[in-house]
Amino acid sequence: MSESASPQGRKGALLGWIVLIGSAVVFAGIGLLAGSIIERRAERNVSRVQMLQPIGDWETDNSKWAVNFPREYNSWEATKQVQDATKYGGSEVKDYLANDPRLVVLFAGFGFGRDYKSPRGHYHSITDVTGTERVSDKTPATCWTCKSPMVPKLMHDKGVAEFYKGKFKHLEGVMKDPIGCLDCHDPRTMALRISRPALKEAFARRGRDITKASHHEMRSLVCAQCHVSYYFKDTETNYLVFPWDDGLQADDFDRYYERTKFVEWVHPVSGTPMTKMRHPDYEVWLQGTHAFRGVSCADCHMPYKSEGGVKYTDHQIRSPLYNIANSCQVCHRWSEQEVKSRVTSIQDKNRELLDIAEDAMVKAHVALGDARKLGATDEELALPRNLLRRSHTHWDYIAASNGMGFHAPQESARVLAKAANLAHESRIATERIRAKYGARTEAPMPDLSSKAKAAEYVKPFIEAAKKK
Ligand code: HEC
Ligand code: HEC
Ligand code: HEC
Ligand code: HEC
Repeated sequence: MSESASPQGRKGALLGWIVLIGSAVVFAGIGLLAGSIIERRAERNVSRVQMLQPIGDWETDNSKWAVNFPREYNSWEATKQVQDATKYGGSEVKDYLANDPRLVVLFAGFGFGRDYKSPRGHYHSITDVTGTERVSDKTPATCWTCKSPMVPKLMHDKGVAEFYKGKFKHLEGVMKDPIGCLDCHDPRTMALRISRPALKEAFARRGRDITKASHHEMRSLVCAQCHVSYYFKDTETNYLVFPWDDGLQADDFDRYYERTKFVEWVHPVSGTPMTKMRHPDYEVWLQGTHAFRGVSCADCHMPYKSEGGVKYTDHQIRSPLYNIANSCQVCHRWSEQEVKSRVTSIQDKNRELLDIAEDAMVKAHVALGDARKLGATDEELALPRNLLRRSHTHWDYIAASNGMGFHAPQESARVLAKAANLAHESRIATERIRAKYGARTEAPMPDLSSKAKAAEYVKPFIEAAKKK
């Protein structure tokens, strides 16, 4: 007998239907509202754009575009403003290593273990890339790719592969104009455009011609030129590649790097071959509710703004939490306070999961380091090292992405759970090996209470690895 045949069950079922239909109506309402906003945004096209003065095909100086588009220019220039940090983001620069010294261990022996700071506005792209301690004489020109609109011109003149082959330092001083108009717009029509070959190539390998994307998609794809994960193919060509061939999720990146055996550095404490994920903002966004409902990067990060009756796109790209009224409240009827606390509560949970994964990963590195000291062989340690490498890939996919979990909360939680689990598996495997070599207690944990203490702990390992 089915449950709903009893009178109580039937009443319950009826109530269930009322709630279901009621909420369906409410959600359909929200859907319609959001849908109409999204469509209205997509409908607008650039045909009404009028030029007072034609813009040169390679005009990289953003101020030269101001004559035609003073509002867009002024709001773009405002990305130089540095505002008080939000709880997890914002334009005020944060030192990730000081805030979380575990990162000094996780990135030991690699540039990110020395200097790792939060991003700020596009206006600062040149200053910040030249200022980071991660840049050295060996740094390839490839690092300039997402920093200046002068890059497409150089690629056009020299050829793409030749551009990547160059040295970063040789272009210092040449690169003057920070990220701007020409990166996203065709100067003749002002249509949105893809100016970077790596994005086109990555989609082409997946069988898609991205130059035929819809206008609505372009409102996210212009960002995907730079806000994606990438790596340099090898140290000779330093060709820029997105690891998308097997798919865009963390699991796909994991499979891709396992398959291609791409290794960026060997971890000096544990001897693990490592790969760094780079800000997969586009990839993570794709897996969230907003992408599913057609809400683009520009909808939240470049909302409309009105000035003297003229409506235009706000080019002050920044944390939407500085501008909740235009960024969120056009679709959501929640108060500013509610929006903000909803976002930070998602981010708090993400932070907690990052902590769990990082603790497990640090312990796994330390245990592996101790097993080496006890005399374990590379052959014995291959399995736990591989588990730890895969843990890092998953964790970093979320840790390196901006938004701190907001762009796709559930997916972020799933990936971090996987990262923690892989790190635990690695440590269990290592503990078995340590026991074989006579260890009776856990490997002692170093003092990681500050950036300096953490650096002190990894220093001898880095020096020993250099000598080898
Ligand atoms: C539904 C709105 C929404 C969409 C769509 C969205 N974002 Fe975000 N984004 C946010 C919020 C909210 C934050 C968190 C800001 C904070 O913590 O201060 C954020 C943070 C960021 C940050 C870090 C900003 C900072 O201040 O640290 C970057 C970079 C970013 N997003 C890029 C993107 C890109 C690229 C896309 C599209 C692929 C995208 N976002 C889509 C709402 C959105
Ligand atoms: C990071 C990418 C990006 C950069 C950099 C950028 N734009 Fe835009 N721009 C957009 C997007 C996205 C839109 C919205 C297009 C749409 O949906 O119609 C837009 C729209 C416009 C429009 C159409 C009118 C409007 O306001 O909606 C003009 C004009 C414009 N931008 C000028 C500029 C100028 C001038 C600069 C440099 C100072 C610039 N843009 C830099 C992405 C960018
Ligand atoms: C040409 C490469 C490039 C493109 C295109 C690009 N970005 Fe960025 N973006 C960067 C870089 C590099 C930084 C960090 C700059 C710094 O810290 O000096 C950054 C920083 C940001 C930040 C942080 C700002 C802050 O105040 O903390 C946000 C948000 C952001 N981008 C969103 C977007 C969105 C949305 C788009 C598309 C509409 C986009 N970006 C297109 C390269 C790019
Ligand atoms: C263009 C419309 C649009 C904009 C702009 C927008 N949202 Fe949404 N948002 C949606 C839609 C649609 C959903 C899915 C709701 C549904 O389908 O029931 C959603 C869902 C959400 C959810 C619940 C789902 C989740 O991922 O947790 C949160 C929280 C949220 N939005 C926050 C924000 C914030 C914060 C901003 C501004 C930074 C923002 N939204 C901007 C349309 C929008």
